[in-house]
This record gives sequence, C-alpha cells and structure tokens, in this order.
Amino acid sequence: MEFVNNYNRLSGLLESSLAEMFASSTQRVDLAANYSLTAGGKRFRGVLSLAVAEALEIEPQGILPFASAVECLHAASLIHDDLPALDNDDLRRGKPSCHRAYDEATAILAGDLLFAEAFRLVLNSAEVSAEARAGQAAELATAFALLCQGQDLDLLSTESGQSADTLESLEDRHLRKTASLIQACTVGPVYLLGTPKVESLKSALSSFGTNLGLLFQVTDDILDVTGTTEQLGKAAASDEAQHTGTFVTLLGVDGALDYAKALHKTIVSQLSSLEFESRFLIGLADFVLSRDR
Ligand code: IPE
Ligand code: IPE
Ligand code: MG
Ligand code: MG
Ligand code: MG
Repeated sequence: MEFVNNYNRLSGLLESSLAEMFASSTQRVDLAANYSLTAGGKRFRGVLSLAVAEALEIEPQGILPFASAVECLHAASLIHDDLPALDNDDLRRGKPSCHRAYDEATAILAGDLLFAEAFRLVLNSAEVSAEARAGQAAELATAFALLCQGQDLDLLSTESGQSADTLESLEDRHLRKTASLIQACTVGPVYLLGTPKVESLKSALSSFGTNLGLLFQVTDDILDVTGTTEQLGKAAASDEAQHTGTFVTLLGVDGALDYAKALHKTIVSQLSSLEFESRFLIGLADFVLSRDR
C-alpha cells in the first residue's frame, strides 16, 4: 500500500505538470500532442526521476521539469512508434493512436513538437542552474539518439527476419531503444546535486537505470505475448504481427521470465549497496518485474 500511495503521489505531480503544457492552445498539432501526452500511461519514467530525486533529498520542484520532459520524449517516441511505417498500431493507452485520432502528418508533427517542448522544459527550468540544465539536456539528447538507433535496429531486424537475433544483438537493441531513456531518468537528478560524490553516484545510478530499462523492455516483450489488448491498452501480439524479434521469440516466455528475474536480482543487489534510502526504488524494480500492464 505504501508503494502504491507513493507511486500515485509522484505520478499525480506529473499529471498536473503535463496537463498544463498545451491547455491554452486550440492549434491542431498542439491538440494532437496533448491528446497523446495526457492519455494516461503509467508515468513510470517520470515517477522514476522523481523517486531518484527524492532518494537524493532533492526538492520535487527542481526535478519536475526534467521528469515532465522525459514523459514528453517518451510520448513522442510512442506516437512515432505506432505509425504505419513503424509498428502500425491503432491503439495506445486505451485510445486510438495519435495518427488514428488525427492523421499521419499531424502525428509526425505532434511527435516532433513534444520532442522540442521537452528540451524547452529542461532548458527554461528556473529553479535549476545553467550548468545543471545543460547537463540534463545533454543526457536526454544522448538517450533519444540511442532510442532512434534502437528503433532502427528493430526495423532492420523485422526486415531481415528473426533468425538474425542473438542474445547480444537483442540486448544491444533493447538497451538503445528503451534502456537509454530510463537510464537518463536515474542520472538526470544527479545534476541537481553539488557534492563532490557526484561522479561515483552518477555511475552507480547509471548502471541501475540501464539494468532497469533493459528489464522494462524484456517485460514489455513478455506482456506482448501473455497480456490482453484490454489490459495493456495497446494491441497484444503486436510484435508477432510485425515479425519483430523479441526476448520471447529468442528465449520463449519461460526463458524470458528467467532472464527478467536474474536481472531483477542484480538490480536489487545494486540498490541495496547504495548509501541512500532505496526502498521505493526497489519497489519500482519489483513493479517492473511483476507488472501486468
Ligand atoms: C511502452 O512504454 C514502450 C516501451 C518502451 C516498452 P510504457 O509501458 O511505459 O507505456 P506507458 O507510458 O505506460 O503508456
Ligand atoms: C517501443 O518498443 C520502444 C520505443 C522506443 C517507443 P515497442 O514497440 O515494443 O513498444 P510498444 O509495445 O509499442 O509500447
Ligand atoms: Mg516498436
Ligand atoms: Mg510498438
Ligand atoms: Mg512492445
């Protein structure tokens, strides 16, 4: 119960911040961006940033622009991921995908708009020093570049057939397409600290974020096979429909679950050795392992 209350408290902060972004506009592309951004979603990435900040005793107001920016980038990536040229998915967050609710051209622009707004949020953040803003923006830019490469590898694997996947190539693809942005969530808050311990902390949190991000995509692959469309709010069996190689096609459901459990164990032991309160972060890792949506 304590975990759920904490999660809801942090996701509530994000919902308020995101709802404000396009509230006063009636321009079509703004409406489309707002449609996808406020359609729900777990807010896992934003909550993770806020949770790491809280563990480091950083005030929520200082990290909220960064956490909101991550959710904007994530929403942009989902709008583009669903396009007919990529995964061709018509349902997202329990509603028609952006290109279905609007049209393809508007969805492409809405993704671009959310990308730009994410950087505006971080770079205009009044509570944060210029140096920290630049560091956070660079983290996000690096992560999104990797995400694009990961998405390209996904498309290439679909084009060449699943037989090309090895565990190594699949890990590399998932690290880029999903773990990169989740890793930015765990490292972004560190820029708000001015202590000499920052470098070692950054590397520990970076490793935590990378492993958690990989776990997140492995469980996404599993849910694609074991979940229902209703429960996921997006089409189940989409990977199969697109012939996308995943951890399930490589290892089977049981093998993918074993892989996920081993990764979760590593994450928990990493977190336990950190010198701050990590109970809620361990809770987030538990959530990713056992999630049903
Ligand atoms: C889906 O992300 C895309 C992946 C990288 C696996 P989420 O499962 O976080 O989607 P929302 O934000 O809850 O809709
Ligand atoms: C998407 O991976 C990763 C992104 C970078 C958007 P998926 O294609 O598996 O995500 P879902 O299952 O559509 O949410
Ligand atoms: Mg995809
Ligand atoms: Mg997809
Ligand atoms: Mg998926």
